[in-house]
Amino acid sequence: MSFNIAVDGPAGAGKSTIARKVAKKLKFIYVDTGAMYRAMAVYMLRSHVDCTDEAALEEACRKISIELAYEDGEQQVILNGENVTPYIRTEEVSQMTSRLSARPAVRAALLNLQRRLAEEQDVLMDGRDIGTQVLPDAQLKIYLTASPAARAKRRYLEYLEKGDNTHSLEEIERTIAERDERDMNREIAPLKQADDAVLVDTSDMGIEEVTSHIISLYEEKK
Ligand code: C5P
Repeated sequence: MSFNIAVDGPAGAGKSTIARKVAKKLKFIYVDTGAMYRAMAVYMLRSHVDCTDEAALEEACRKISIELAYEDGEQQVILNGENVTPYIRTEEVSQMTSRLSARPAVRAALLNLQRRLAEEQDVLMDGRDIGTQVLPDAQLKIYLTASPAARAKRRYLEYLEKGDNTHSLEEIERTIAERDERDMNREIAPLKQADDAVLVDTSDMGIEEVTSHIISLYEEKK
C-alpha cells in the first residue's frame, strides 16, 4: 500500500517549497494540485470560457486533459499535450484559478486523477482540500500556515527574485487575502484544517526547520 502525505494551507505558507524538499528527501512523488487547477485556468482564459456558467464549464472540462510529467524531478503540468508550466504562475492566472476552483465541474474533473496518482505510488500532495476531500485516509496530514503579513512578504520576495518588481507589498497582501477568503468560504471543498492534521505555523520558522519537522512527523508515523 502506498504512503500518502497531505499538505494543505493558504497561499504563501511555503507549501510548495517545503513539500518539494520533503518529497525529495523521502523519495516520494510530489504532486502540486494547485498547478493542475492553474492549468485549467489557462485553458479557460485562452478559450474565453465564462467561469460563472456551469454548463459551459462542464463542456470545457470534457475537452481538457491534464497530465503530470517530471523533468529533473520538477513537476510539469501538461494541458492537452502542451507543457503550460511556464504560464501558470501569473497574477491573472492565480485569481482566475481561485474563482474557477470553486466550481463543481472543475473540482470533479481533477478529483479522480489526484486519487489515482496517490493509489499508485507514495505521494506528497499539496493543495487546499487534500486532507479533507482528496485523500481523507492519508497517513500523515499537515496544515501549513503563516501570518498574512509573513505570507505576503514571501510572495513579494519571490516576485522580486524572478525580476518582477511590478507588484507592491500592499497589492500582494490584498490579493492573497481575496484568494484566502474565496478558498476558505466556498461551498465545495473549502480550505480548512482536517481534524487529524498537524498544524505547522511557519511564520517564524526557516525552510530547513519546517522540512526537518515534517520529516520527523513522518518518521513517527511510518
Ligand atoms: O497552491 P496554489 O496557490 O498554486 O493554488 C492556486 C489556487 O488553486 C488556490 O488559490 C485554490 O483556489 C486552488 N486550489 C484548490 N484546491 C487545491 C489546490 C489549489 O482549490 N487542492
